[in-house]
Amino acid sequence: MYGQMSTVAFVGVEARPVEVQVRITPGNPSFQIVGLPDKAVAESKERVRNAMHAVGLGMPYKHLTVNLAPADLPKEGSHFDLAIILGLMVAMGAVAPDAVAGYAAFGELALDGSIRAVPGALPAAIGANAIGKGLICPAESGPEAAWAGDAVEVLAPPHLLSLVNHFKGFQTLSRPTPRLDRDPKPLLDLADVKGQESAKRALEVAAAGGHNLLMVGPPGSGKSMLAARLPSILPPLTPEEMLEVSMVHSLAGELLGGRIAIDRPFRAPHHSASMASLVGGGSRPRPGEVSLAHLGVLFLDELPEFQPNVLDALRQPLEPGETVIARANHRIAYPSRIQLIAAMNPCKCGGAGPGMSCKRGPRCAEDYQARISGPLLDRIDLQIEVPAVSAADLALPAPTEGSIEVRARVAAARERQRTRLAEKGIKGSRTNSDLAGATLDAIATPDAAGVLLLKQACDRLGLTARGYHRTLKVARTLADLDGADVVGRIHIAEALSYRGETLRQARSAA
Ligand SMILES: Nc1ncnc2c1ncn2[C@@H]1O[C@H](COP(=O)(O)OP(=O)(O)OP(=O)(O)O)[C@@H](O)[C@H]1O
Ligand SMILES: [Mg+2]
Repeated sequence: MYGQMSTVAFVGVEARPVEVQVRITPGNPSFQIVGLPDKAVAESKERVRNAMHAVGLGMPYKHLTVNLAPADLPKEGSHFDLAIILGLMVAMGAVAPDAVAGYAAFGELALDGSIRAVPGALPAAIGANAIGKGLICPAESGPEAAWAGDAVEVLAPPHLLSLVNHFKGFQTLSRPTPRLDRDPKPLLDLADVKGQESAKRALEVAAAGGHNLLMVGPPGSGKSMLAARLPSILPPLTPEEMLEVSMVHSLAGELLGGRIAIDRPFRAPHHSASMASLVGGGSRPRPGEVSLAHLGVLFLDELPEFQPNVLDALRQPLEPGETVIARANHRIAYPSRIQLIAAMNPCKCGGAGPGMSCKRGPRCAEDYQARISGPLLDRIDLQIEVPAVSAADLALPAPTEGSIEVRARVAAARERQRTRLAEKGIKGSRTNSDLAGATLDAIATPDAAGVLLLKQACDRLGLTARGYHRTLKVARTLADLDGADVVGRIHIAEALSYRGETLRQARSAA
């Protein structure tokens, strides 16, 4: 007796098709699962056995073999239960093969036969659709799976019995409706920040071009305050981006009640974060903070307090926009196209910098800043100093310009980038910050005066090749904010002012 059922296995956010083949042969009663199952899959046997009893079916008193094909793809997680039990029911003749042929099954079984929610219903539904099938998933995950599109048939039974009744025609399971996340989160307004005009300008530039930003300044100067206000000037997610973000959040089990994400991610992990929680991985593959911030902001407050090896692990996801995690016998890639915003004090005691006095002298700042590696700093396009706010600034009335005005300028600059990329047929880049070498040359080459200034700066500041390209990208964003087609000397000059002098100045002033 033979039965089969489709399901999926995750490789990063991609759901690959897996076929569950079940054969019942005469012989000593046994139950074997083969095809690289992990511990959660191997334990499936007990859940399947009990769920089977719960719906009034006895396990066949025979030799059962379950093969998860392709056999060389590792199978991780507890979501294979549903496909295994359905394959077994087909092999036993309890469910007609035709009834399940059009579906992939995805869900964990409880001992009483109810179907429990598991992370990843949205990518699973998209994966099932890619092989021309619908998805059977837990009731709780139904609204999430329904986001895969109207063309995808979704069955979301709460219990195995309701699924069997649906197949037998005793009960009809209706298609779940896609649910949106609650109303967008209220955003903090930039108008709360008094003074700090140049820091606000840098924040606007970072938002307009998707650039990474490092803010260095004494305690209480408003760095965390500024970073928390970045989401209020970023454009909202497009519907495609919402789906892309939700795929990662779905895998991490962070879509509450099956609602997809509508806010641009803003993740602010604590500096005690481990490598696994920041970059992903661990005993069970799970996207880390850097992937949960995909298409949004990763805010690392008190940057040097993070463990240096954890910070260095960020270098790889920052450049190509994805995180690759090596597992025992395969590699997983999670998308992580992020904007990194970091804040730090110039020294451990916070007293270094112009107008401040650090009692431990330059050593304090040097030791503290040495915790951040050069290559990581090199990936941060905008590095600015945020000086202490003066009492005079604090006593001023609230600034008239708030997030709404800045957001409009950012949106206009982003629109210019989008149109330009579409006109030139450049794929794979969304903002100036992720332009690659040759395309960057094609659209950001400055005028003659700009080229001259850039050459001089290269000689004097000793810019690396990456530093040179990053200056060009920032200059392109500045020109976009200005509404200028050609990058000029003034844009290059401002872009250079955001490069790395901050830390050196703070150190020499200490
Ligand atoms: N520019 C400002 N305008 C208004 N209030 C400010 C400003 N800067 C700081 N504050 C006040 O100071 C508090 C501390 O600011 P914030 O936490 O942003 O400082 P920080 O630079 O992150 O300091 P630390 O280095 O200690 O983390 C804010 O909650 C706010 O009340
Ligand atoms: Mg702070």
